[in-house]
Amino acid sequence: MGEMLLVIDEGTTSTRAMLFGPDGRVHGSHVMPLTQNYPAHGLVEHDANEIWRNSLDCAHAVVNKAGGPEAIAAIGIANQRETIVFWDRTTGEPLAPAIVWQDRRTASLCRRLKERGEEPGVQARTGLLLDPYFSGTKIAWAMEHWPQLKGAGDRLAIGTVESWLVWKLTGGLHITDATNASRTLLMALGSGNWDDGLLDLFGVPRTALPRIVDSAGDFGTTKLLGGEIPICGLAGDQQAATIGQGCFRRGEAKGTYGTGAFVLANAGATPPASKNRLLATVLWQFDGRRAYALEGAVFVAGSLIQWLRDSLGLIESADETEKFARSITDNGGVYLVPALAGLGAPWWEPEARAAISGLSFATGKAHIVRAALEAQALQTHDLKTAFAADGDDWSRLRIDGGMVANDWIAQDMADILGIPVERPVMAETTALGAAMLAARGCGIFASLKDADVMRGAIETFEPKLSEDARQARLAGWQAAVKHVIAHSE
Ligand code: G3P
Repeated sequence: MGEMLLVIDEGTTSTRAMLFGPDGRVHGSHVMPLTQNYPAHGLVEHDANEIWRNSLDCAHAVVNKAGGPEAIAAIGIANQRETIVFWDRTTGEPLAPAIVWQDRRTASLCRRLKERGEEPGVQARTGLLLDPYFSGTKIAWAMEHWPQLKGAGDRLAIGTVESWLVWKLTGGLHITDATNASRTLLMALGSGNWDDGLLDLFGVPRTALPRIVDSAGDFGTTKLLGGEIPICGLAGDQQAATIGQGCFRRGEAKGTYGTGAFVLANAGATPPASKNRLLATVLWQFDGRRAYALEGAVFVAGSLIQWLRDSLGLIESADETEKFARSITDNGGVYLVPALAGLGAPWWEPEARAAISGLSFATGKAHIVRAALEAQALQTHDLKTAFAADGDDWSRLRIDGGMVANDWIAQDMADILGIPVERPVMAETTALGAAMLAARGCGIFASLKDADVMRGAIETFEPKLSEDARQARLAGWQAAVKHVIAHSE
């Protein structure tokens, strides 16, 4: 058996496989886009078969680069979280579209549950809030509206994306790791088990759910990549990135700027209880023992730049945004609140709509593009304020994800947060975290701390902006957000 670690990083808009050596060196990578289906306003679906085929194709491509399955010690999987898949246990075929985390179809159900006073109890048990983001209400909706699910009876299997991939890779093993389970609204955070009261509340049949397992271990093998390879690491992509950024001590925080932006801070061995609308979630589970994170989830980050490019035609490529931002000295009073999929933490306004404010005849394309980039640091600042109010302020932030390859955004983040911001040179921290879990799971390393040798060099951005300029930007942003919230339905 070789020493290479094969990672499948199944994200919202693309699927990537990567090959890591135990020293963290990257030996191969293959990426494929994933089709986004928007059947109506607020609805976002994926084809679970496409998720599976792309994952397998990407994995095949890097196994070939490795020279065959013998070179590979273990597989690690990281995945878009909360997205939920429904399939038939006997055929292994999807029974319905996968409902994506960004989907807002359950906004009215969430509102009704909140009006009934359910949220405090749900938050106390799961660490989450009643927002369409999480899987629980998506499953409730699907069970009510897609008769084939109830019709399947005991043949119905439900799982998040890593659960679906493990099922397909192994030919029928139905498990989910605790980090992913902690995003469903169905797992009691403190016990790591499905909660009967929550299953009742959302009408979820227990028989359809996977067994909750650790984030590292020997889970089963796949024979679909030319030989037998064990699957040894599983985690939601944001938890994997937190591990890939080496946030092993309490208080250490990372922010990933992919489709959305997600800041997770290591909260230690006790589930945190946020009083400021942040989430409590499992960071990893080993030998049945969990570490937790406090999380701020922002729904729109990189997808805003895609929207500027594909829907508005304002830019031709994401790379251009840095040039536009640098072409002007300030935002000219323009703010863009990117509530294109509602607002997440710390506001949780599922029906909010995005807004661009402060326009005048002096406003040009560069101002709008710059406002879109500035929104990243400003949204992150809202999270920092909530973390601080919970007593968990950050002293520095480790950043990663496609968006922050842009040096202008990285510097703006340091300027607006007023703390040093660290960016690893090897940007694929999600995949690295999954490789570290797989390396621990297959015994290459005895602990995550030992796996830390896989991490590489970092660049640091120090805050440089004057305090007056910083406060002026924050005041402009806060007014813009207030306006958006006041006008949400
Ligand atoms: O919670 C959603 C998150 O896991 C999605 O991550 O990287 O696909 O934007 P990403």
